Amino acid sequence: MLDRFNRKINYLRISVTDRCNLRCLYCVTGNEIKLLSKNEILSFEELCEIVTVASNLGIDKVRLTGGEPLVKHDIIKLVDMISNTGKVKDFSLTTNGILLEEYAKPLAEAGLHRINVSLDTVDPQKFRYLTRVGDINKVFAGIEAAKKYGLDPIKINCVVKESSDEPDALSVEKYCLQNNLKPRFIKQMNLEEGNFSIVEGGQGGNCKQCNRIRLTCNGKVKPCLFSDLEFDIRQLGIKEAFEKAVKAKPEHGSQNHVNVFNNIGG
Ligand code: 5AD
Repeated sequence: MLDRFNRKINYLRISVTDRCNLRCLYCVTGNEIKLLSKNEILSFEELCEIVTVASNLGIDKVRLTGGEPLVKHDIIKLVDMISNTGKVKDFSLTTNGILLEEYAKPLAEAGLHRINVSLDTVDPQKFRYLTRVGDINKVFAGIEAAKKYGLDPIKINCVVKESSDEPDALSVEKYCLQNNLKPRFIKQMNLEEGNFSIVEGGQGGNCKQCNRIRLTCNGKVKPCLFSDLEFDIRQLGIKEAFEKAVKAKPEHGSQNHVNVFNNIGG
């Protein structure tokens, strides 16, 4: 699919759940998070049909996000089903790594190609503070397991306050160098303001080259993370929702008030 600005849209990010097992300070802010009810969430069959239809429209790269995708019930089965559509050339998942030690092997066996892990510091106390509940040793063990089972390359997403020169970011960079991981630095955004910013070391926020489109776990296609536009698959049908979303994809991001990260996965 080509959009109005001649960008080729071939990358679909699917949020499979709005639930998460961490409560990161910058994501779970003071504002109450309204979780979706079960009957609103797309079924595995719907998700596979969406991947198939989207692939016929030119999508060949799929990433599963959340919330935290590994807390989704039967996530391995979903990965297996999507992999078995035979439509996805690049199949990845973004995780906080907490459950990865246990899931790396079945994920790889189910056909996932690679993962991104969110990690903002390598300091155990700081990690606990930032995530409110997380044990960093689980993340380290998860990353080791992902390496062991060939989920490669492994990218590390590190949220920074201002820049990648900050002590926590430098420590993450060092850990990545030592462990053959690829760091990317994402500037922390103020979710109340909804403003967007760019990703160092990745394509996120590079609007001119943006090849992405997103699907929320309740079936809305979003052409841009930093726009309120969304097109409901259940109202419009899959093909039309995608075509409308691609047609409406803004030239660049501006603001987003409808969805925050907890249900679209960054
Ligand atoms: N600013 C920037 N990125 C965020 N994410 C979540 N909240 C924010 C925020 N306030 C993204 C990051 C993080 C992932 C879980 O979601 O990429 O690694």
